[in-house]
Amino acid sequence: MSKINIGLIGAGRMGSFHGETIAHRIPEANLYAVSDPFREAADSLLEKLNVEAKVYTDIDDLFQDPNVDAVVNVSPARTHASNIIKAIENNKAIFCEKPMGVTLEEFEAIQKAAEGKNIPVQVGFNRRFEKGFKQAHQEIAAGHLGTPQLLRSNTRDPQLSNAEKIPEWTIFIETLIHDFDALMYLNPGAKPVEVYAKADALIRPDLKEKGFLDTAAVTVTFDNGCIAVVDANFQAVYGYDVRAEVFGSEGMITLGDLNATSMKKYNQDGSNIQTVKYDQDLLFDAYVEELRSFTRSVQTGHQPEVSIADAKWALTLALASVESVKTGGPVKIENLLKG
Ligand SMILES: NC(=O)c1ccc[n+]([C@@H]2O[C@H](COP(=O)([O-])OP(=O)(O)OC[C@H]3O[C@@H](n4cnc5c(N)ncnc54)[C@H](O)[C@@H]3O)[C@@H](O)[C@H]2O)c1
Repeated sequence: MSKINIGLIGAGRMGSFHGETIAHRIPEANLYAVSDPFREAADSLLEKLNVEAKVYTDIDDLFQDPNVDAVVNVSPARTHASNIIKAIENNKAIFCEKPMGVTLEEFEAIQKAAEGKNIPVQVGFNRRFEKGFKQAHQEIAAGHLGTPQLLRSNTRDPQLSNAEKIPEWTIFIETLIHDFDALMYLNPGAKPVEVYAKADALIRPDLKEKGFLDTAAVTVTFDNGCIAVVDANFQAVYGYDVRAEVFGSEGMITLGDLNATSMKKYNQDGSNIQTVKYDQDLLFDAYVEELRSFTRSVQTGHQPEVSIADAKWALTLALASVESVKTGGPVKIENLLKG
């Protein structure tokens, strides 16, 4: 089977990692083109990867290139929905980093564009491709944990930088979106009923007036009775911290580990482990596997493992959290979906 020609949109921090995966880690994929409004970003990525590919500064040129089979979109969040729609309109499969869209109206437009077309559209919920999370999902779906009763998930980023440039509500729409999806994945078949969120600017209280939030906790209740809590913080001084726990009527599953290696050092002060500092180190295999899975979908024409509907559920929980912080009270999901 011939290689899939992939056009990468966005050659920033995450785009560079995905670009390297396409170019060097997935034999079935070919990094055919890179598009970024800043030409230097695309050029320097290709130089670093030692790859020759087309460079477009206007993403429309990439969408219109007939040799592009599929797009991997790693541009800023607020450009995602329109790029997904353009990809579908040009009959190109698309993998898009989270979130797929930032409003429910954007999701309506994506769903309308995708209707009746069998074009693979996948969102970057990489935890679904982490071996432990996947195994946990299968165990829970098979009923081996009984009924989930308590659920927990957290994302704590290692370092806050450029806080002034972070768009409002990012902690829910771009960070906790992973945890909201993890709740859905680890409580399969259940639907969220109510969300209650608290958030604050504890790292940069000086920016709170401008709407900046760096710390949040959200309670989500589900229609199978399960009570879930997610939390996030933008500055965990000890590293990149992603963990989850599912407690059910028949047992418990814990997920996530911060240890960089299996070494634990003991001395007169006690014991010490080295922790993982970056997302791309902690979840390296999952980031690669999600693109491998996407490439397979493009080759086979099968719908991706993570759907538009999955992406919409996670955003719904994020938007319910925003509403909850604004009103100071719980938010019923059905009211939000009614509009
Ligand atoms: N799944 C994860 O764990 C994870 C981790 C980090 C980032 N992300 C996501 O990846 C995306 C990019 O994040 P990043 O950290 O690489 O950001 P970044 O700022 O490092 O890179 C963004 C790149 O997009 C380019 N760009 C800007 N406007 C554009 C446009 N309109 N069209 C195309 N390209 C444009 C910029 O020039 C830059 O090169 C975000 O959606 C983010 O949420 C996901």
